[in-house]
Amino acid sequence: MKVGFIGTGVMGTPMASNILKSGYELMCYNRTKEKLSDLKDNGSLVANSVQELIEWSDTIIFMLTTPDAIEYTLLNKIKDPTVYGGKTIVNMGTISPSFSIKLSEQFNKYNAQYIDAPVSGSRKPAEEGKLIILTSGDPIIVDNLAPLFKTMGNKITYCGEIPKASMVKLSVNLLILHMMEGFSEMINFAKKGNIDLNILFEIILSGQVSNDLYRMKYQNYLNGEFPVQGSVKNGIKDLKLITETAKENEAYIPLTNLNLQMYLKAKELGYEEEDFSAIIKVLEG
Ligand SMILES: NC(=O)c1ccc[n+]([C@@H]2O[C@H](COP(=O)([O-])OP(=O)(O)OC[C@H]3O[C@@H](n4cnc5c(N)ncnc54)[C@H](OP(=O)(O)O)[C@@H]3O)[C@@H](O)[C@H]2O)c1
Repeated sequence: MKVGFIGTGVMGTPMASNILKSGYELMCYNRTKEKLSDLKDNGSLVANSVQELIEWSDTIIFMLTTPDAIEYTLLNKIKDPTVYGGKTIVNMGTISPSFSIKLSEQFNKYNAQYIDAPVSGSRKPAEEGKLIILTSGDPIIVDNLAPLFKTMGNKITYCGEIPKASMVKLSVNLLILHMMEGFSEMINFAKKGNIDLNILFEIILSGQVSNDLYRMKYQNYLNGEFPVQGSVKNGIKDLKLITETAKENEAYIPLTNLNLQMYLKAKELGYEEEDFSAIIKVLEG
C-alpha cells in the first residue's frame, strides 16, 4: 500500500513518522514546506502538489484543521478530480458530522471510498503511536486499514456508519474541554486561597478524579509554561463544531456555550497558539 499523508502539523508529523517507521511507502504534502524536512530526511517522498500525491497514493490520509482548509486542499486545488477514482480517502482530523457526510458524498461522486477516522489523544500519544482511532464507513475497508491504523494508535474502535466517528469524537472533546477548564478553575481558586499547588496535585492525582489528562498537564501549571500539545485555536474550533452540531441535533449544552466564550477570551488575550491548558490565564487575568 502506498500511503499519501496531507497535513504535517503538531499531530500529522508524528503520525506520518510512525507510518514511515513501520515500513510503508510514504509521500507527504504540507502547505508549509519546512515542516516536511524531518520526514524527508527519514525517507518519505515529498509531493510538490496535492494532485501529485493523490496520483501516486493508494490510500490518502489527511490531518488538516478547518473545513475550509480541507475543502481548499483536497477539492479546490485539484484540477482533475478523476484522479480520486478507486482511491481510499481517510480523514483523521476533527470535523463536524455534517461536514463528514458532505465529504463522503463528494468523494463517492469521484468514485473514491471515504473513511472517517478522527483520533483521540494529543502530540505525546501521537509520538508514541498510542492514539485512540475512531472509525466510520464501510467496515470491510476499515478492516483492511487496520494494520495502517495500528502504526499510529493502540486502540481502534469502529463507531458505525459515517458520520458516527466524528460524532463520538466531538462528544469526547466536549468533556475534555470542560475538564481542562474545570481543572484550571480549581487551581486558580486554590491559589487565591494561598494553597500550595503541590499539595493540591498530590490529592487530585492520587484520588478518584485522577486521570491521564491531568497527569499530563499539571506540570504546565507549576511551571507557568504551556507548550502546545493541543492548541487553544483547535479548542475553539472544536467548541464551535460542538455548538453547531448541538444546534442541528437540538441538544442542550449550556456549559459548553459558556466554555466557548472562555476559550474565545483566551484567543482575544493572545494565547491562541498555546496549549489549551493556558485557559487558566483568562481566569487569572
Ligand atoms: N493537537 C491535538 O491534540 C489534537 C488531538 C486530536 C485531534 N486533533 C485534530 O487534528 C487536526 C490537526 O491538528 P494539529 O494539532 O496537528 O493542528 P496544526 O498543528 O495546526 O496543523 C494543521 C495542519 O493543517 C494545515 N492547514 C491549516 N490551514 C490550512 C489551509 N488554509 N490550507 C492548507 N493547509 C492548512 C497546516 O498546514 P501549515 O503547516 O502550512 O500551517 C497543518 O498541516 C485538527 O482537526 C485537530 O482538531 C488535534
